[in-house]
Amino acid sequence: MAIDAPVTRPANPRFSSGPCAKIPTFSLDKLSDAPLGRSHRAAIGKEKLKAAIDGTAEILGIPEGYKVGIVPASDTGAVEMAMWSMLGARKATMLAWESFGAGWVTDVVKQLKIDAEVKEAGYGDIVDFTEVDFDTDVVFTWNGTTSGVRVPNGDAIPADRAGLTICDATSAAFAQDLPWDKLDVVTFSWQKVLGGEAAHGMLVLSPRAVERLESYTPAWPLPKIFRMTKGGKLNEGIFKGETINTPSMLAVEDYLVALDWARSVGGLKGLMARADANAQAIWDFCESRDWIANLANDPATRSNTSVCLKFTDDRISDGAAFAKAVAKRLEKEGVGLDLGAYRDAPAGLRIWCGGTVETSDIEALLPWIEWAYEAEIAAQAQAA
Ligand SMILES: Cc1ncc(COP(=O)(O)O)c(C=O)c1O
Repeated sequence: MAIDAPVTRPANPRFSSGPCAKIPTFSLDKLSDAPLGRSHRAAIGKEKLKAAIDGTAEILGIPEGYKVGIVPASDTGAVEMAMWSMLGARKATMLAWESFGAGWVTDVVKQLKIDAEVKEAGYGDIVDFTEVDFDTDVVFTWNGTTSGVRVPNGDAIPADRAGLTICDATSAAFAQDLPWDKLDVVTFSWQKVLGGEAAHGMLVLSPRAVERLESYTPAWPLPKIFRMTKGGKLNEGIFKGETINTPSMLAVEDYLVALDWARSVGGLKGLMARADANAQAIWDFCESRDWIANLANDPATRSNTSVCLKFTDDRISDGAAFAKAVAKRLEKEGVGLDLGAYRDAPAGLRIWCGGTVETSDIEALLPWIEWAYEAEIAAQAQAA
């Protein structure tokens, strides 16, 4: 039965899972301190880049001795750089339970042609970490952005592993607790949880990852933008702000503004609490309805950033068309933008819940989802 449209609208209808909503206090004039038209190698440029690195380490609580660098090509660049520079020294294990993890499998198996065991789980599930051999190099995504399934903790990763753990944490960093002692390479981009601009990637290396870089040379050639060593030694400059190629100082300024905002909401703890509250509002909504459910099967693995939902009403005849039509209604009303499921994922909705999203906006969106769902059920009945 169609229901009346809700009265309240989200103040910010942006729920995209990347680029994600900007910080709630964002305005373009906040970027006026960007050293535009100046060299990134000038003192002012270097200072800004170093502040971006130091601010990242401070807010994320990255341990002493780890290296934090700004690299080209966003999160993809950071993951590729790590895989092409470090893999091949020993056997690899590739874990995937959604589209991005699957992409890294393709790279390693088909492009790098590395001896790898591939362990996969379907959308909604996760690979069993207790069955993974961590004496191999293990590549995985912490939060599967396209399935809304995350690693619950690092308990299954042994402290005395012989292999490296290479973790794509782009939709987890700044929203979920990352066990740094269990992760040798962590990557993410600015365009996700902090609502920054796309373009640059962050690469965090443990001392063991640095050791690999300094003791192993892959058999294949490495393009300049992937090269992290010089004469067998780590190129320390990358981890001080001397980027390999030219960064956007406007994007850097935007990231610095986002880091300041992150401090103002209580740093990592505050950011995690904001994401948790957003996701909880959606979980509670699903709990009290029998027509919509979380795509994640095990509640312990439910993402608090990319919350993926499926429609479970068996009156729905064409799941994909139905979900698309619901998303289209929300978009047309201007109450929810970019919240359809990812193209390779099962039909449904994906609502970004990272800390830049206000819980009041999630709460205002949910009745609209119910409205769009009822309207679509009614439209389907009428068409039949
Ligand atoms: C898990 C994961 N890995 C990689 C990417 C690619 O990120 P980027 O486009 O910032 O390189 C995304 C983007 O959504 C992602 O969610």
